[in-house]
Amino acid sequence: MDKLVSLAKRRGFVFQSSEIYGGLGSVWDYGPLGAELKANIKARWWRSMVHEREDIEGLDAAILMHPKVWEASGHVAGFTDPLVDCKHCKNRFRADDPAIKGTPGQPDAQCPVCGSKGTLTAPRLFNLMFKTFMGPVEEAAAQIYLRPETAQGIYVNYLNVLQSSRQRIPFGIAQIGKAFRNEITPGNFTFRTREFEQMEMQFFVKPGSDEGWFDFWREERLKWVQGLGLRPERLRLHRHGPTELAHYAKDAYDIQYEFPFGWNEFEGIHNRADFDLSRHQQFSGKKLEYLDPATNERFIPYVVETSAGADRTALAVLCDAYHEEEVAGETRVVLRLHPALAPIKVAVLPLVNKDGMPEFARRVFDDLRKHVNAFHDDSGSIGRRYRRQDEAGTPFAVTVDGQSVAEDGTVTVRSRDTLQQERVAAAQLLDYLSSRLRG
Ligand code: GAP
Repeated sequence: MDKLVSLAKRRGFVFQSSEIYGGLGSVWDYGPLGAELKANIKARWWRSMVHEREDIEGLDAAILMHPKVWEASGHVAGFTDPLVDCKHCKNRFRADDPAIKGTPGQPDAQCPVCGSKGTLTAPRLFNLMFKTFMGPVEEAAAQIYLRPETAQGIYVNYLNVLQSSRQRIPFGIAQIGKAFRNEITPGNFTFRTREFEQMEMQFFVKPGSDEGWFDFWREERLKWVQGLGLRPERLRLHRHGPTELAHYAKDAYDIQYEFPFGWNEFEGIHNRADFDLSRHQQFSGKKLEYLDPATNERFIPYVVETSAGADRTALAVLCDAYHEEEVAGETRVVLRLHPALAPIKVAVLPLVNKDGMPEFARRVFDDLRKHVNAFHDDSGSIGRRYRRQDEAGTPFAVTVDGQSVAEDGTVTVRSRDTLQQERVAAAQLLDYLSSRLRG
C-alpha cells in the first residue's frame, strides 16, 4: 500500500487535503490524473445506469436537506458508532478496535496510542453525521446536517421524478454526489474518508417483486464491476448476516475487493423494503403511495438500492492496476488501467527536439486531443518519458521519429502492456486508437 500511496502522490492521482498545514485527517484531494480517473468511473456508471436504461432517471439533489429527513431516515437515532476516549492522550477509538487491550472503562484497559492503563472511558455512542448551522444564528432550530448518504435526496424526490418523467413502477432514480461521515477509524488511504462520493441508484418496485429485483441488481452490479477489468480472483460477494444489516435493510450483499489490507466492501446492494418511504410519509405527513394504473392498487413501493463509492471503486482500480516488473534488468512500475478508465489515453512524444520532429508531434497531438485526453511530452530521454506514462497508466505512446518526418508520415505506437511497437500512418492514428480504447 505504501508504494501505491507514494505513486499516487508522485504522479498526481491523490494528495492529502491541506497538506501544507499538516493535513486534515482522512480527507484527500484528487490531483490531475486522479480527477480524470474518478470522472471516467463516474461517467461509466452514469452511462450504464441512466443512459443505457429506459427505466432509470438521473437526479442531482442538494447536499443540505431539511433536518427532519435525517430523523425520518433513522440516522439521528441510529447512525452511531460506540467510541472510547483516552483521558490521558485524548485520542478516540472505536470500542471494537482490535488494538485496544482489555475492556474499555475497566482498569486493565490499555490505550493503543500512549500505552496508559485504566485511562480509556466506557464506550459511548457517537453520531457520525457532521452538523452545521443554516442561517445567521447558531441555535438548535437552525442546526442541519451534511448528508451521510445520497439516497435520501432520491426518496424525498421520488414523486417529483415519477410525475415529471412519466415513469411507472418498476423504475429507478440514480445520482452521484458527495456524502460526509465523521469516521473515527482512520486510515487505509482513501478507503474510509470523512468526505467521499457515492454513486447510488434506488429502484422502486411493487412489494413482493423486491426479492427478484434484488437478485437482478446484485448480478448486474457484479457484471459492471467485472467490466472495470478487476482481477476476478480479487472480487467476491458477501451476504450480510443478521448482525451486519443496517437499520433500513431487509437483505444486503457487499461487493468486496481484496485490497492490500484485506477483503473489504466497495459497493452494497440493499433491499430497503418500504422502510424509507413509509418513514418519510409518516414524518412529512405527505402521501407517498403509488397508484398502479393497471390495477388501481395503492401501495408504498419497496426499494432495491445499489450503493457504490466512487472513491473506493477508484482505490480498487488503482490497487488492481499496480504492477512492478523486471524489464531489461530494471524495475518497471506500471498501472495496467482499463483503457476506458485511464486518465490519459495517449502520449505524443517527439523522439528528439530537432529535424522537424517537434512540429510534427505538435500537429499529431493537436489532432488527437480534440477526441481523446492526450498528453504531449518532449522533456527527458525517451525511456524516461515512457516510464512516466507507464506510471500514469497511459495505454499508448506515439513517438514521432526521423522516418515520420523524412520518409513516410508514419509514427510508432507503443503499447503499455505488451511493450510492442507498431508503425501506423499518422493519418490513421485516431481510428487505430479508438478501436483499442473502447470497452
Ligand atoms: N445508501 C446506503 C449506504 O450509504 P453504505 O454501505 O454505508 O450504504 C455505500 O455505503 C458505499 O459508500 C460503500 O460501499 C462505500 O463504497 C462508500 N462509503 C461509505 N462510507 C465511506 C467512507 N467513509 N469513505 C469512503 N467511502 C465510503
